[in-house]
Parts: sequence; C-alpha cells; structure tokens
Amino acid sequence: MKTRLRLFIYLQCFLIGGLVDSSALPSGVRPISVTSKAGSRVVLPCSWKPHRAEVSPSACHVQWVSPPFTVFEQRSEDKWQAKEFDGRLEVPEETLGSGNCSLIIKDVQIRDTGSYESFMVVDGARSGKTRVLLQSVRLSVTDNKSWVSHPPGQDLVLDLHTSHSFTVVFQSRNSSAWLDVWSRGGKNSERVEKHPLHEQLTIKTLKSSDEGTYKVLDENGYAVSTVQLSVTENSPTLRAHQKQENLPKGDAAKSSCSVLLIVSLFVWSLQTLHLH
Ligand SMILES: *[C@@H]1O[C@H](CO)[C@@H](O)[C@H](O)[C@H]1NC(C)=O
Ligand SMILES: *[C@@H]1O[C@H](CO)[C@@H](O)[C@H](O)[C@H]1NC(C)=O
Ligand SMILES: *[C@@H]1O[C@H](CO)[C@@H](O)[C@H](O)[C@H]1NC(C)=O
Repeated sequence: MKTRLRLFIYLQCFLIGGLVDSSALPSGVRPISVTSKAGSRVVLPCSWKPHRAEVSPSACHVQWVSPPFTVFEQRSEDKWQAKEFDGRLEVPEETLGSGNCSLIIKDVQIRDTGSYESFMVVDGARSGKTRVLLQSVRLSVTDNKSWVSHPPGQDLVLDLHTSHSFTVVFQSRNSSAWLDVWSRGGKNSERVEKHPLHEQLTIKTLKSSDEGTYKVLDENGYAVSTVQLSVTENSPTLRAHQKQENLPKGDAAKSSCSVLLIVSLFVWSLQTLHLH
C-alpha cells in the first residue's frame, strides 16, 4: 500500500518535472543574482509549480548543487548537506509542498560565494532517475564596509558579524603595516575586549593614534568587514557619518545564461546520488 502511494507521488512529481521543464523554462531558469553581507541569513530563491493542489513535501526530492559539488539534498526525512556548510543550510519542509524550494543559508560566509543550482529529482517509469533544473542562482557575499567617527576618549564597538570571524587587524593612517588587534581564543588586552556573549569587540578610550582601518577576517583570511575610523573632537554624535558602500555586482550571470539553457533542456540521469 505504501509503495503504491509512493509510486503515485513520484508519478505526480514526474509530471511536475515535465511542467517545469517545458513551460517555466524561458523565464524560470534565468540565473538570479543574490548579494549579501557576511554573517547574514540569505535566501536563494527557488520555486516549482505544484501540479494540482498541495503535494506532500516528502514526495519530492530536492537537490542544491554548487557545480560540480552537491551541497544539499532532501528526500522525505533524509537530509544531507556538505560538511563545509556545517549545518547552515535548510530548505523549510513547510513550504516545499506548496512549491517553495528556496535554500536558506544561515550565517553566510565569504567563501559561500559562487553559483548554485536547484534540481528536482524524479523517478520516471522507464528512464529511471532524472533531474530537472529548477533555478540557477549566483551568490555574492561581500564584506560590510563602514565609516565611523568618534571623539577621543570614547569606545569603539566593532561588530564581528559572525562566529567565523577569527582575527581583527589594524592599519594606522600613517603606516602600511597591519597589526594584530585581536584573535579568537586569545586573551583580552587592556584596551581590547571581546563581549562574553555577543560577536562584538570593544576598543576602549580612543586616541588619535587609533585612527585608521580595522579589518575583521575569517578563518580563511577573507575580510568580513572593514571599518574606517576617524577620531576627531568636532564629532558631536557617536556615529556622525556611517554609510554602506555599493559594491559592484557580479556580471558573470550573463555568460552562464546560454549554457544553462542548454543544460536545462538536457535532462540527464543522476549519477551521484548521495541518499540511499
Ligand atoms: C520561500 O521561502 C523563503 C524562505 O523561507 C522565503 O524567504 C520566501 O519569501 C518564500 N518565497 C515565496 C514566493 O513565498
Ligand atoms: C554592516 O555593519 C553595520 C555596523 O556594524 C551594521 O549596523 C549593519 O547592519 C551591517 N550591514 C549588514 C548588511 O550586515
Ligand atoms: C601621523 O603623522 C602625523 C605627522 O606626520 C602626526 O602628526 C600624527 O600624529 C600621526 N598620526 C598617527 C595616527 O600616528
């Protein structure tokens, strides 16, 4: 009885696959660009059209790939994700049945930058397992740039943004050298203190020699954030001037478009299936 139900569901999934493949292709598979700052929660959008009403989320087998590697796979209760993401990936089951296969990346890291593709894996009666491309996303994760100004004697609270932040380095305005200010696991110094709970660093009693650039780096040495500090008397407010820089958007999306169209027309058999 259970097998029969499964067969029916897979058949329905197959029909959905066919629907997505043919009608949703021209607009649906165009790569979407998503940009985010390190440490945020980011959603890689993905949707498929349920054939009729709601389909049980357990019926469908969703795969997210960052070519050539599979990063996330979900089929019924079986969930798998690549080690590098250490549990930061999720496709909420509640919305999967109504056609939302978006991938949530929590605490997004600079190294998560790249191309992502989502697939529906379907069991065809004759052809065996095939997969249908649903969505292609280009994710760009950048550092958070800001400018702050404080009068001397005040404290600078530096946001570390994520638990993956590993060191903070400083470049004085007059110098080209980068000095270590803090590193995770190290001791607090007299003037630099990590908040016991929050991802925050306080640099106490600012002096004019503290002026310069502060960079928060992750384990791989990528910049999570860059803060330009100026210490001036005539700064009436705590943060006189703070702005976000508009970073250039990736234009690689264009080039991959035609390739993806070809790829999406080509429904190939699944060779590496992680769940079984
Ligand atoms: C799909 O789910 C994601 C994550 O839960 C959500 O952010 C997004 O708004 C949803 N999309 C639609 C079209 O409902
Ligand atoms: C960038 O950093 C500032 C200061 O720490 C913070 O208020 C802001 O929310 C950050 N922006 C993003 C997108 O994370
Ligand atoms: C930078 O150099 C100028 C003069 O060359 C000096 O007055 C100033 O105090 C120096 N600033 C820092 C932060 O060392």
